[in-house]
Amino acid sequence: MTGSVAAQTIEPLFSAETIAARVDELAREIAALPLADPIFVAVLKGSFIFAADLVRALYHHGLEPDIDFIFLASYRDGTMSSGRVEVLRDVASELAGRDVVIVDDILDSGRTLAFAKDLLAQRGARSVRTCVLIDKDVPRASAIEADFAGFRCPNVYVVGYGTDLANRYRELPFIGRLVS
Ligand code: IMP
Ligand code: MG
Repeated sequence: MTGSVAAQTIEPLFSAETIAARVDELAREIAALPLADPIFVAVLKGSFIFAADLVRALYHHGLEPDIDFIFLASYRDGTMSSGRVEVLRDVASELAGRDVVIVDDILDSGRTLAFAKDLLAQRGARSVRTCVLIDKDVPRASAIEADFAGFRCPNVYVVGYGTDLANRYRELPFIGRLVS
């Protein structure tokens, strides 16, 4: 490795196989809902791999959702959330009267998901549900819980399967914790 980024060890927490099995279960639960004109809104960048796997699992469970993206930045100082959430790219789809499922990678302080939920509800959605892969066991800054959550996780910084540290490690097929 070259450059100023120090080499870090990653201890696997959730294997690719474990994630795939859990994503399939989440898809089964979601597909069992009576959804009206469903649209899945993936929060970029962190959820792109999870969302891609989730919608393919939904296909296997008989759901054909519309898919859109919202690009949110929650500014971080290293591994700590700063509290500000900004829209870098908004959804393009009409949401009025539709059942929306927001897909995000990690529920941590809750600010990002609470912000996204409020924003999309204002667009006249019939319902706005939330689905996260990782639900961190931390006190929330915003009072929100996910409707669907893949894994509970202790308060450690995780990377992989779309999640990053300063845009590194998104390509890992598993999720691990950084052990520096
Ligand atoms: P929150 O707004 O504090 O709930 O943070 C949610 C966002 O911060 C998630 O969408 C992730 O992109 C990012 N995040 C929170 N914890 C971690 C982590 O452990 N690893 C990587 N990204 C994280
Ligand atoms: Mg994110």
